[in-house]
Amino acid sequence: MRKAFTYLVIIMLLAFASGFIYKSNTKNQQVLSFKIDTLAENLTVPWQITFLPDRSMLFTERTGKVRHYRNGKLQEKPVLIVNDIKAESKTGLLGMVIHPDFAKNHLIYIAHNYGENNALWLRVVRYEYKNDTLLNPKTLIEKIPAARNHTGCRLVFGPDKKLYITTGDADQPVRAQDLKTFNGKILRLNDDGSIPSDNPFIKSDTARKEIWSYGHRNPQGLAFQPGTNKLYETEHGPTGGDEVNIIEKGANYGWPVIHHQDAKAGMKSPIFEYTPSIGPSEALFYVGKAFPTLQGNLLVGCLRGESILNIPLDKPSEQEVFLKKQFGRIRSVVVGPDGFIYISTSNFDLPESKGERPYDMILRLRPSTDKTVFASSQQITANNKSDLVKNTSQNMFKQLCASCHGDKLQGTEAVRSLIGGKFNYGSDKKSIVKTITDGVVAKGMPAWNGAISKKDIDGLADYILSATH
Ligand code: HEC
Repeated sequence: MRKAFTYLVIIMLLAFASGFIYKSNTKNQQVLSFKIDTLAENLTVPWQITFLPDRSMLFTERTGKVRHYRNGKLQEKPVLIVNDIKAESKTGLLGMVIHPDFAKNHLIYIAHNYGENNALWLRVVRYEYKNDTLLNPKTLIEKIPAARNHTGCRLVFGPDKKLYITTGDADQPVRAQDLKTFNGKILRLNDDGSIPSDNPFIKSDTARKEIWSYGHRNPQGLAFQPGTNKLYETEHGPTGGDEVNIIEKGANYGWPVIHHQDAKAGMKSPIFEYTPSIGPSEALFYVGKAFPTLQGNLLVGCLRGESILNIPLDKPSEQEVFLKKQFGRIRSVVVGPDGFIYISTSNFDLPESKGERPYDMILRLRPSTDKTVFASSQQITANNKSDLVKNTSQNMFKQLCASCHGDKLQGTEAVRSLIGGKFNYGSDKKSIVKTITDGVVAKGMPAWNGAISKKDIDGLADYILSATH
């Protein structure tokens, strides 16, 4: 009797143990066996990597250079130096894409910031690639409002051969809802810069006809899903609240009226939302032979999260991040013609850059059977059902204001501390309500009128008073 019981216990223990082994041996661990090659280093924010049909690689550096990596070597002479550029904080030469018929027409598109009339803007320029240089620039669109942190800038061509361009809200949240401005939009153009006749606002007299979707804060990832041709987008949220959206023609994605997991009729909520922030940058559907288990997954380069997010869309509860904190902030993620994954780091970004990694790199990830080079992976939870935090003024402040003011109003690089009641624009409630409503736009304080209700502004003013005194 006793013996039988002992056996039973042993069998139970074995079952438990083997369950454990099975669990830690998920499909993902086999995927995450990489060999990592450093292709180029000592770079300054290589923002976009792209491949040419001859299998060589071009990439932008934020300071204004387009660089060429060919035959296993970074070419010393840049393919292009953009002089008319405003490169500070996170702006400069950012997006780049080649024409889907590049082999025939040699066209390349870049997006860069520039200064004019004391303001920061974004323009998209088309070049011809010839004899290792970029020639015949043609500006396709310009005067897109920009700001140090919110300037969008991802360029992709769709299966429809149209050019899609993301723009940031340029620190003017309310304008993301305004169809007369380019702030916080996804734009869609023909390859020559003209406006496609099937754009959603083509017949509107009051909207910019270039607009494809609106209500965005700072979208930096765009990827068409092979097979379905659905357009997936990643977007930086205000404080957490980072998003993955599916973009539909003419749709409103809600910023700043809704954010995080809010929902409202006529506005789209994200399919996945991430709090705390992961800082989603480039998004990409993996297609290639090198990593069979990643096939069809959405990969997202993460800045704040210092990792790559892997989303198996058929099993979104099995999302995970890998390469966490191994190379710092990750900006560009692309698949090479060999099916390997190429990534760039973004460690020169201010103010995040703390000088711990005073360099940027382009890395190549190859599969490896060597168990010792497993890259660590970690489960991550995306919020896609409403387990909303309570809608208190304090939470609202955390979500909308803390990125500039600090969560306890202690200040950040952008704004000085308001603790102790040190206000410039009046410390009585009426003045605070007025500042929040109208903003101090020239100094970087957005006007919130129209984005949040009068009642919410009132609540925010009360919260600010209680937190600073
Ligand atoms: C994009 C950055 C940014 C965001 C987001 C932001 N602010 Fe500000 N805010 C500023 C800046 C910059 C100033 C300082 C302007 C100055 O000193 O001239 C400021 C000033 C203020 C002031 C006036 C302080 C004074 O000295 O009188 C109040 C009140 C305030 N913000 C409230 C808010 C609230 C409430 C929110 C969220 C709903 C918010 N801010 C979101 C940048 C921001």
